[in-house]
Amino acid sequence: MTAPLIASSVGGGTTTEHIINVAYLVAVILFIVGLKKLTSPTTARQGNMIAGLGMVIALIATLFLEEIVTYEWIALGTILGAPIGYFSAKKVKMTSMPEMVALFNGVGGGAVALIALSEYFHWTDTGAGITTDVEVASLFSLIIGSISFWGSVVAFLKLSERISGRPIALPGQKLINAALFLGAIGIAGYLLVSSGMDPYSYTIGIAVLAGVLGLFFVLPIGGADMPVVISTLNAMTGLAAAAAGFALGNSALIVAGMIVGASGTILTNLMAVAMNRTIAGVLFGSFGAGTGGGTAPAGGGASREGATVRSTDAASAAILMAYAQNVIVVPGYGLAVAQAQHTVREMADELESKGVTVKYAIHPVAGRMPGHMNVLLAEADVPYDQLVEMDDINPEFERADVAIVVGANDVTNPAAKNSPDSPIYGMPILEVDQAHNVIVLKRGMSSGYAGIENELYYDPKTQMLFGDAKDSLSEVVQELKNV
Ligand code: TAP
Repeated sequence: MTAPLIASSVGGGTTTEHIINVAYLVAVILFIVGLKKLTSPTTARQGNMIAGLGMVIALIATLFLEEIVTYEWIALGTILGAPIGYFSAKKVKMTSMPEMVALFNGVGGGAVALIALSEYFHWTDTGAGITTDVEVASLFSLIIGSISFWGSVVAFLKLSERISGRPIALPGQKLINAALFLGAIGIAGYLLVSSGMDPYSYTIGIAVLAGVLGLFFVLPIGGADMPVVISTLNAMTGLAAAAAGFALGNSALIVAGMIVGASGTILTNLMAVAMNRTIAGVLFGSFGAGTGGGTAPAGGGASREGATVRSTDAASAAILMAYAQNVIVVPGYGLAVAQAQHTVREMADELESKGVTVKYAIHPVAGRMPGHMNVLLAEADVPYDQLVEMDDINPEFERADVAIVVGANDVTNPAAKNSPDSPIYGMPILEVDQAHNVIVLKRGMSSGYAGIENELYYDPKTQMLFGDAKDSLSEVVQELKNV
């Protein structure tokens, strides 16, 4: 039995089907080339364009499938969806990019879950019966796509700070999640073995259980562990899409889904390694971890009572750096908020004109999305050879005269090394506290994404330059010109 949306057999089929298959092959090659180019900041834009071209080709080819019964709904979806996608991508601020990516990832998961559902109903409604392979693929896609959609909605709400980023968990959350998962799988299994029954209520039941599981899956994961969750949801959407491709018999969807699934899985692993976490530990073990059952402590590090913070001004910071030999810039999420990437580049140019060596320390989870700092600094044309990854820059901090922290917090927090009760304990950090002098640019004493206090600010070597990072850096640049 063939699935309704495409006859993907290469051997038989009409000329149109052969052309569609060739177009899909071209699209898939473009996806792979595009993805390869996304691995380097120098070629990333080009990679995006190439992968986008692949998507256009795949979309156009799909419009020629003879199984399409009506173009009206496709036109309506395009008229509604295309402007939303275009204008939200145009309008989105760089700081809101991670939450938009989370939301769009969820929309992808939701879309494939709905496709799987409609495919399922198509076969059962026609009375032709559904083959086991199509049924398994559809139900898998429905479950994983629903988890991914609702999980991504929670990730969006957390990243955009519409809800607290702290772990939110019910008592017995793990058991509830296990029950939801087994419930969804159980109903799916029942549908598979039984025949001739009304599938509507059962499939809706599966979607509801999987959806609630998606919410409960992400809500308990808090603070610093979000990078692992986001990349996992990404991988799940890819797998759900690949399964929907199997159900439809659509080769392009299978391959594209597998590419997203595989790259999301690799990214999940990289993020977990970057945070010194196990994937299972983050996804299944961290419910309320170190939080006393669901709420993160305000301070994961040592008590700060009696400790003092030294503040400085732009002139003093400029003098300290102008007479240094080595300065390491440590960018973080605040750099993105302040949009200070161009100003930080100006400061580096001024320092280099005075013979100071400047490098940038890049933590893999600084900011709110993988590669966030690379993207920002590339936008300001910071030379790539000045961007140094965490493992390579860490041994250099002890030789640095000044480390200037621009809106980074969690990724510099020594509690990750020193405080076993801290939620970020074990996460590799940038060893800023090893530098001879530390200047921290932030607006106040508020915590970072993980919601914990930073011991670094109380270190006698540290001087705080309070204010918006862009304003502070502009003042520093002016002062440097006068030195
Ligand atoms: P954060 O720990 O989030 O700290 C950012 C700091 O920037 C804040 O303490 C804030 O302090 C300061 N800030 C905000 N706006 C500013 C402005 N306009 N000018 C100056 N400073 C400003 O950042 P991080 O060190 O980059 O760490 C990233 C965190 O996000 C980690 O916990 C990571 O696990 C998590 N996370 C990462 C990702 C990925 S994939 N990268 C995804 C999700 C979550 P003030 O308010 O006092 O200014």
